Amino acid sequence: MRILFLGDVVGRAGREALCRELPGLRTRLALDLVVVNGENASHGFGLAPEMARAFLAAGADVITLGNHAWDRKEIIPYLEEERRVIRPINFPPGTPGQGAVVVEVPGNRRALVINAMGRLFMEALDDPFRAVQAELAKHRLGQTIHAALIDLHAEATSEKQAFAHSFDGLASLVIGTHTHVPTADHQILPGGTAYQSDAGMCGDYDSVIGMQKGGAALRFWRKMPGERLAPAEGEATLCGLFVETQDATGMARRVAPLRLGGRLSQAMPEG
Ligand SMILES: [Fe+2]
Ligand SMILES: [Fe+2]
Repeated sequence: MRILFLGDVVGRAGREALCRELPGLRTRLALDLVVVNGENASHGFGLAPEMARAFLAAGADVITLGNHAWDRKEIIPYLEEERRVIRPINFPPGTPGQGAVVVEVPGNRRALVINAMGRLFMEALDDPFRAVQAELAKHRLGQTIHAALIDLHAEATSEKQAFAHSFDGLASLVIGTHTHVPTADHQILPGGTAYQSDAGMCGDYDSVIGMQKGGAALRFWRKMPGERLAPAEGEATLCGLFVETQDATGMARRVAPLRLGGRLSQAMPEG
């Protein structure tokens, strides 16, 4: 299965680049499955339903969220009708929405996508390790599903690496989101799981994690509330990871970073 995961889409710059480039990327890379983290799409804070619809129309199969899941309140009823948009699975019981979804993939295949959130330097949440373990146990990789992807939305690389090694051999891909900076540690772990500590954001990198740099920097210089942060508006770099998996086992056989447009050095997976 040919899979592309794209990190946090930030603001208008990120949305426009995604909607402009994704249809072409689907064709160019012959993608079977596209997963996009959309938690910062709406002015940096949350995801509005019309944005989710636009991402799905542009070629996203599943949209994941994170700590900004509820910043746009309209998403709450939308999650009940659109199961392809998921929020972290380890939000406490009773929280609206779903933390995982199984989608159909061309060729009579199925893929499981799970969104989880870390706890180190993050809000207090249920255990993401046990929540993901329980979800994976409902499926049989290579039989009932042909790929399993986990977006671990977390701050600390230690937690992300510990998580990835815990599920090595049990998932096709464990990919980090939330820090908005792509890491260079993309690899296939010994058990066959593709991994990258952070996919990076789809946003303007002349910024502080996607937000306008002046206002964001002032927050560190002065101990007083700043004005509300606004997304940087320069051309976005789309950042993510391409993964090719074996359907029979669900394990990864190739992994390559993607960085397209904007300021970062460019990277495009070979055919
Ligand atoms: Fe984010
Ligand atoms: Fe986040």
